[in-house]
Amino acid sequence: MDTRDTAPKGTKYLTFEAGEDIGSNPTTNPTLGDVINARFGRRDLMRGMLATAAAGALLGPSLMAVSREAAAAAGKPTFSFTEIQHGVDETHHVAPGYDADILIRWGDPVLADAPAFDPMKQSAEAQAKQFGYNNDYVGYAPLPLGSNTPDHGLLCINHEYTDEEVMFPGVGREQQEAKFDKMTRELADIEIAAHGGSVIEIRKVNGKWTYDPKSTYNRRITGETECVMVGPAAGHAMMQTSADPSGTKVRGMLNNCAGGMTPWGTWLSAEENFNGYFWGKSDDAALKRYGVPGGWYNWGEYHDRFDVTKEPNESNRFGWIVEIDPYDPTSTPRKLTALGRFKHEACSVVIDKSGHAVAYMGDDERFDYVYKFVSKNTHKDGDRAHNMTLLEEGTLYVAKFDTDGSVTWMPLVFGQGPLTADKGWKDQAHVLIHARLAADALGATKMDRPEDIDVNPKTGRIYVMLTNNSRRKPEQVDATNPRAANNWGHIVEIIPANGDHMADKATWQMLIQGGTAEVGGQFNAATTANGVFACPDNCAIDSHGRLWVTTDQGENWKKASGTADGVWAVETDGDLRGTSKMFFRVPVGAEMCGPCFTTDDTTLFVAVQHPATDGVDQWEKFAGKKSSFEDPATRWPDFKDGMPPRPSVVAITKKDGGVIGL
Ligand code: FEO
Ligand code: CA
Ligand code: CA
Repeated sequence: MDTRDTAPKGTKYLTFEAGEDIGSNPTTNPTLGDVINARFGRRDLMRGMLATAAAGALLGPSLMAVSREAAAAAGKPTFSFTEIQHGVDETHHVAPGYDADILIRWGDPVLADAPAFDPMKQSAEAQAKQFGYNNDYVGYAPLPLGSNTPDHGLLCINHEYTDEEVMFPGVGREQQEAKFDKMTRELADIEIAAHGGSVIEIRKVNGKWTYDPKSTYNRRITGETECVMVGPAAGHAMMQTSADPSGTKVRGMLNNCAGGMTPWGTWLSAEENFNGYFWGKSDDAALKRYGVPGGWYNWGEYHDRFDVTKEPNESNRFGWIVEIDPYDPTSTPRKLTALGRFKHEACSVVIDKSGHAVAYMGDDERFDYVYKFVSKNTHKDGDRAHNMTLLEEGTLYVAKFDTDGSVTWMPLVFGQGPLTADKGWKDQAHVLIHARLAADALGATKMDRPEDIDVNPKTGRIYVMLTNNSRRKPEQVDATNPRAANNWGHIVEIIPANGDHMADKATWQMLIQGGTAEVGGQFNAATTANGVFACPDNCAIDSHGRLWVTTDQGENWKKASGTADGVWAVETDGDLRGTSKMFFRVPVGAEMCGPCFTTDDTTLFVAVQHPATDGVDQWEKFAGKKSSFEDPATRWPDFKDGMPPRPSVVAITKKDGGVIGL
């Protein structure tokens, strides 16, 4: 059953675009665009940054050139690598003087008894022991636990979703578009097994990384692995299903996008577009607010739990942050209900000076929100068992960004403000399970798709990647900053007052706006054409406090920037603030995920997700065509006849062994 018969499709990206047509937020809360436009009048263009479109018009080309030289001379760049160029082709590229080596690919063995990958003979049983599909988040956990070992550790990797048209022989095209004509139970079960996450033990020997396919640390978590619900919503009536009357045990985690590593050495994995796995029909307003059922997969044909007409509560058990102890392969993944249910993109935890754990999170949908969670209890050095309970109890807040440059964190607490029984709220579990609706009621600021969020360990400032929002209408912006139909995204910086992450107030300012000057992009004038990017998605901050941004332009890459996605290094301080340089580029049709540094910053792991899929028809060499298993736009990284493209994790090291980017 196709719930969206008329929508254009062809890849999962287009399915997503169609399914999220206008975003599912029906409220009239102000958008961040409204607020930026009010805040950034002429007066407020940032120091060291030229609002290139406006300035170009005012100064003309020659003065623009002078400004660029002046800006370049004004500060010392933090990043010393030679920039690579925009472009698109069948392989990856890294800055000169660096190596970018494949560490692990879809299908490589993870468990000791995994069979060798044979794309023509896939099975769910084999896939559950092999590296999953579409690697997104990458986290590094040093060995032993508690150390800073830079050359031996565990890599924690999310497997977000599957692209059946390039995974399976004979399928040909994206299956929602084809009414699931080629899908079988066997293929659906392989898909379920290809989701979730992997832990692998890795080691650097003579400057090169390898993983140990026989390590007893290695594990696969799939769409079938037993997880437990913890926190205020565990066991609630809204969590109970016919298979689990306790409301505490869930099969699997799904659509795990980005994540975070906690200070106590656990892996947080964010369930994002879980709605796509459910099908059936429902008029329930709360399900609708979450886009359930999405109908992107037909798993509901074979498994009743994915059919909302049969198990209306099952989808309440997805859309959470999942905490996993990578050091114990027998541990049960825990879904943290105190952190709220939404399309979780990522989760960045800091220990506030008060000792509380504070987690920053984004809800990645057009017009959705930025959240933070503050733990009730405080961190205890050396007491890992205690610290592993910190995210089970506390207060969830949602952000309101104001024109005066302030951020107000509003608590989502049952009984407070509009979240009362009079207004239909039952209890705190209800507030958390329907966190989006609770945040609507509080008047949170509608954002342009909040993706990754990271906290700079040096400064305490927080970077929010806002990837794009093509559906923002002109009436939702004002004349001073016209970014309606925002196809390019931007990066917002939040500054907690006095570094206090507990405070309910902070301030914010813009770091950059994606895209070229012609579309209102704003980078420091020292940025070259290759430094311009669009659609910031993931980010990492190295231990020197330097920001690295990765992009996901999807089908839109040609219009948005003209280059394939990649990694850009972005200056955040001084006169060069807002200067960007291109460091790495993915093969055609891929997006750039990860990124993750080792503890000494001499390795940057990145994840190349869905090579050969998004927007390949716009690449001259593949003009007009979509990829299939038999005829993909690239066979990266193996480039062997008959071997499909394979999402892979890449280890980037400097040839001289030094710190990345220095
Ligand atoms: Fe899975 Fe929002 O990217
Ligand atoms: Ca993402
Ligand atoms: Ca993405």
